[in-house]
This record gives sequence, C-alpha cells and structure tokens, in this order.
Amino acid sequence: MEKKLIRSALEALDNSYAPYSGFNVAAAVLSDSGKIYTGVNVENASFPACICAECNAVSNMVSCGEKRISAIAVVSRDNKAGEDDKKSYTSPCGICRQVLREFSEPKELRVIMAKNESDYKTVTLEELLPDSFGPDSLQAGKS
Ligand code: THU
Repeated sequence: MEKKLIRSALEALDNSYAPYSGFNVAAAVLSDSGKIYTGVNVENASFPACICAECNAVSNMVSCGEKRISAIAVVSRDNKAGEDDKKSYTSPCGICRQVLREFSEPKELRVIMAKNESDYKTVTLEELLPDSFGPDSLQAGKS
C-alpha cells in the first residue's frame, strides 16, 4: 500500500503550482474506505495565500464525503536544488500536522515521506505531533 500511495503522489507532482518557491509538493491520503485522494501545493503572488499539498489532499477527501485517514504519502521536488538534492524526505509543516490530526488517530496515522517508491521513511503522526489538541479536546468534538 505504501508504494501505491507514493505512486499516486508522484503522479500528481507535476500539477503542483509553485512558481515562487520552486518547491513542488504532492500528497496522497488513504481514506478509511480505501480510496486515495491527492493534493498539490498551490501558491499565490500574495505569499501567505499558499495552500500546502497535504491540506489540499485532505480537503479533496472531505469534499468527497470522507473524514478518516489511515496513511499519507508526501513527495517533493526542489527545482532550485542541484541534481543530487532535488528529492528529499518532506515532513509535513506544523499547520498540515494539525489538519491531519483532525481526521486521524495520531498513533495509527502513518506518514510516509518519500523520495520515490523504494526510498521512503514512515513515522506516525503521534511522533510528529505529540500531545496534540484534537476534536475530543472540545466538548463539541466529542463523539
Ligand atoms: N509545502 C507543502 O505543500 N507542504 C508542507 O508540508 C511544507 C511546505 C509547500 C508550501 C510552499 O508552496 C512550498 O512548499 C515551500 O514552502
């Protein structure tokens, strides 16, 4: 499943819109139903209006009626880097970690940071965002 998720993210990478940073990012989330939803970073001339790939992948999933994620793969390409450094293990930014938290169980969510289908590392969201604030931290979010 890791490889399939990474492949989906890699297929989306060329759709990334990153003319300002030159840093293309794509993410693929695996929902509880087994479907894969992708997203890319979308930048803006007004820089703070940028949207990260992970957030767009999650938004895509929620827009299609799903609300639980069990894995996410993140891939990137730094067009400003030298040939050897173009691919790196891209770790979700702080805001993306919080967005992932909303729709997952942190101990179970596998975050796959990949250079390609055979070179990747996997951590849990709990490792990236310990002691997190989530839906059940609020009365309104308790189910
Ligand atoms: N970016 C993401 O899409 N996800 C992350 O987790 C880190 C950063 C994007 C935002 C911006 O378009 C570019 O990478 C450089 O920060």
